[in-house]
Amino acid sequence: MTETHEDEQAAPAIKNSHLSAARQARNDEFYTQWADIEREMNAYLEFDPNVFRGKVILLPCDDPEWSNFAKFFALHFTDYGIKKLISTSYAPDSNPAGEYYRPTLFETEAPQFDDIKSRTRGRRFVLEPKDVSGDGVVNLDDLQWEYLDGDGDFRSAEVTALRDEADVVITNPPFSLFREFVDWLVAGGVEFSVVGNTNAIAYKEVFPLIVDDLLWKGATANATDMVFGVPKGFAVSEADRLKAKRLGYPSDAHYDYTRLGNSCWFTNLEHGRRHEPLQLMSAADNVKFSRHKEIRGIGYSRYDNYDAIEVPFVDAIPSDYHDVMGVPISFLDKYNPDQFEIVGIAKAPLGRPSKIYPRQVQVGATGGRSQVTKLNDGPAIRVEQPPEGKTYYEVGGGTYVQLYARILIRRKVAECRPS
Ligand SMILES: C[S@@+](CC[C@H](N)C(=O)[O-])C[C@H]1O[C@@H](n2cnc3c(N)ncnc32)[C@H](O)[C@@H]1O
Repeated sequence: MTETHEDEQAAPAIKNSHLSAARQARNDEFYTQWADIEREMNAYLEFDPNVFRGKVILLPCDDPEWSNFAKFFALHFTDYGIKKLISTSYAPDSNPAGEYYRPTLFETEAPQFDDIKSRTRGRRFVLEPKDVSGDGVVNLDDLQWEYLDGDGDFRSAEVTALRDEADVVITNPPFSLFREFVDWLVAGGVEFSVVGNTNAIAYKEVFPLIVDDLLWKGATANATDMVFGVPKGFAVSEADRLKAKRLGYPSDAHYDYTRLGNSCWFTNLEHGRRHEPLQLMSAADNVKFSRHKEIRGIGYSRYDNYDAIEVPFVDAIPSDYHDVMGVPISFLDKYNPDQFEIVGIAKAPLGRPSKIYPRQVQVGATGGRSQVTKLNDGPAIRVEQPPEGKTYYEVGGGTYVQLYARILIRRKVAECRPS
């Protein structure tokens, strides 16, 4: 495939009428970097070298001319033993960010190129074990494409039929449709690996899957920045642009680059990281030796509205506590389902608190007072004294502080048995 892009001249400024829709779709147009795909796929392959062998892989919400997923899997088509690779793209006219779309020479020079369809239809790209180009290898040059009947929306019957043909679905879907995308994956009963935002953990479409061990975090990019390419002309904050540059991605002829600190992979493909047990100290040793001043010499508090103790740091989880503990959501980066079970989440509306507070007085860090119901949003701890310089709540004669969302976990029974 020719990799020349016709947009080498700067993209024209986007029209005002499209500005707000384009802004809304901003995070939907983040292109995943090769190194991030490679790191994550390598983790699955380390666990099972045949993870993709004999499988049909679908890359929806993609476009091999612009994204790295199809290029990556086409390069590895033979060594991974892939049976069939399908990638689908989304019609520029259906995409609020379609203003940035410029057809490439690969499309315009193909006999099936059609000026109208190029904007109104999605496309399907297929790679099979056939050396179409006759160069002795099966790779990107053997990719065949055609316009879809529709716009390539992943929810369309046409792309859904491709999902049903696939064994594995891999992509970075539009962030704004992540919930629907996960529902669509689950409805298809496929294996998957998709880029998302860590906050998706607390979505009602996602958290129950985590509890049932049907979806987990990927092996890589947890707690580290992921860099994304964006179309030329997209607004990228200077700080993010510079950070992406420091990470090795200066702007180039095709893309500007940005970074996100909270993006990650969600998958149901096995990897070794989630079978590494966390090495932990007993509760008594944490009180004696924890590096966290909130624990050392103090111990653990109980929530007032959830039946659990508060463990504010993953490395402070006591190894010998057998009831429910609330831990930061970053726990999921280290979660080993053989060691712990997830029993819930302390965050509205998914959480199941043991009590609901009536309206409270919120006292802000600077002393401002207002009537709220926010204390019900997450785990609360009753305190003897109002904290200095921090927001707290007064209700029913008690004083409370509220904590961030917590995952509620318990040690697995087998783990509890003395060895
Ligand atoms: C976050 S970008 C990722 C692109 C590519 N998969 C990658 O990772 O480099 C999401 C892509 O989904 C496409 N898209 C947006 N809405 C879609 C929809 N409803 N159905 C299918 N694709 C969609 C956009 O055109 C965009 O290119």
